[in-house]
Amino acid sequence: MKNISIVDAESILNREINFLEDAVKNSKNSFHLFNLSTINQNVPESRTVVLRGFEKSPFRLQFNTDKRSPKINHLGNNSNCSALFYDKIRKVQLRFSCFATINNNNSKSYEKWVSTRLQSRKCYMGDFDPSYKLESWNPNIPIEYLKINPKKEDSEIGYKNFCLIELDVRKIDILELHHDGHIRFEYKNDKIQFIAP
Ligand SMILES: Cc1cc2nc3c(=O)[nH]c(=O)nc-3n(C[C@H](O)[C@H](O)[C@H](O)COP(=O)(O)O)c2cc1C
Repeated sequence: MKNISIVDAESILNREINFLEDAVKNSKNSFHLFNLSTINQNVPESRTVVLRGFEKSPFRLQFNTDKRSPKINHLGNNSNCSALFYDKIRKVQLRFSCFATINNNNSKSYEKWVSTRLQSRKCYMGDFDPSYKLESWNPNIPIEYLKINPKKEDSEIGYKNFCLIELDVRKIDILELHHDGHIRFEYKNDKIQFIAP
């Protein structure tokens, strides 16, 4: 029977940190997208978002969103949330327990906005609040930018809606699937604890 030690778990954790660092810029990395769950009046709500930043000491995840979207309301009322990643090829799941900080119209959101591509900036230029119920279909980006990107100066109108969300990580639950015995452990307060898969 194989024997997995704390040292092995540490090297799994370090390997996953490397994957997360790569995923910020590499859209082919499965961790480029993750599932964010928030609490809306005691009811969980999940959605896909793009990983836009990762820091390892302390652990922090980042994504961008529109100030007008319901998730901002959820996180404003209850900053507790969960971030879930799965790499189908490597059969690795990462589950982060987090609390969120909303950055809008501050130095952190501005720094991220400056590096946001024009194509992405379009998403913050729509007239409707994201998730608003429409009378009829509307892509919610200015019609003139459906097929082309705005000029940089025209895109600046979206900045007021742009939020950088930082997720400070309390705990990571790592699960690696194997035919001869799954490996699962938690990383919390700088300590590794094996847990039952
Ligand atoms: C592949 C993919 C990536 C997405 N990335 C983001 C993102 O980075 N930020 C975001 O706010 N919404 C993103 N969305 C849209 C959200 O999943 C969601 O539909 C939208 O933000 C509204 O969420 P809410 O009503 O829960 O606030 C993405 C959707 C998909 C399918």
